[in-house]
Amino acid sequence: MSTEQQLREQQLTERVVASFDGTPDPRLKEVMQALTRHLHAFVREVRLTEAEWQRAIAFLTATGHLTDHRRQEFILLSDVFGVSMQTVTVNNEAYRDATEATVFGPFFVENSPEIPPGGDLAGDAPGQPCWVEGTVTDTDGEPVPGARIEVWEADDAGFYDVQYDDERTAARGHLFSGPDGSFRFWAIVPTPYPIPHDGPVGTLLEATGRSPLRASHLHFMVEAEGLRTLVTHIFVRGDELLDRDSVFGVRDSLIKDFEPQPPGTPAPDGRGLGDRPWTRVRFDIVLAPATSAPGGETR
Ligand code: BEZ
Ligand code: FE
Repeated sequence: MSTEQQLREQQLTERVVASFDGTPDPRLKEVMQALTRHLHAFVREVRLTEAEWQRAIAFLTATGHLTDHRRQEFILLSDVFGVSMQTVTVNNEAYRDATEATVFGPFFVENSPEIPPGGDLAGDAPGQPCWVEGTVTDTDGEPVPGARIEVWEADDAGFYDVQYDDERTAARGHLFSGPDGSFRFWAIVPTPYPIPHDGPVGTLLEATGRSPLRASHLHFMVEAEGLRTLVTHIFVRGDELLDRDSVFGVRDSLIKDFEPQPPGTPAPDGRGLGDRPWTRVRFDIVLAPATSAPGGETR
């Protein structure tokens, strides 16, 4: 490429960056100017053809057309680029031994049913019973009583209740930690499932030889006064998808031992399971102070 061509490209980038110089909001100015620099650098690096540009516009248009209040294809796009996980990483800096955060995903629903301590949130979702127990503490090791613990997961066919044809609620609920910070409940053993892949994002994964499967996981959101809200999952040690989760959500510290119990092993709460196999897992949750998050106490 001639020096003159390089100069023309560079000057165009600089003119566009300068067009945002008068942005009254300094943060908006910073974001728009950095975005311009990175977008222009990308176009110049790959020498984007006009046909590729058209293709990209058609892809984004299709992504928009599929998006409505129930299906968010743009978030899915961000997820498979690891942009959602990078945003989580930037905003949840490690603080002492606080439990690490991971992606939220699209399947959380407000107003989940409350379950009592030791209750079963599986409802009629098919899957092997899984006893989940642990404690909520702060980073000084003090128990956190009354923490609101939201839990949601896919059934063993890979579907969340919101993907069922009817309005049933299953495999989701919330409970509160007890006076000593402890909690326990029944769920089902998580199994792998694909992210929605019947739209543009699925086409992109297919074209690039990537799988839509997520490593098996159980979602948690834990909230307590004065502490940083934690959005996370636990993953199943030994799951073969751990190193190729389609949304890059796995962190080593979140991989837990799900221990299968031989049929006939008495359940911790005396639940009559007959000869049904069941599994148990322990998850001790450590919450960082709210002030340790960007934006401090407001989170
Ligand atoms: C989930 O874990 O529920 C999820 C996360 C990102 C994209 C799709 C699903
Ligand atoms: Fe999920």
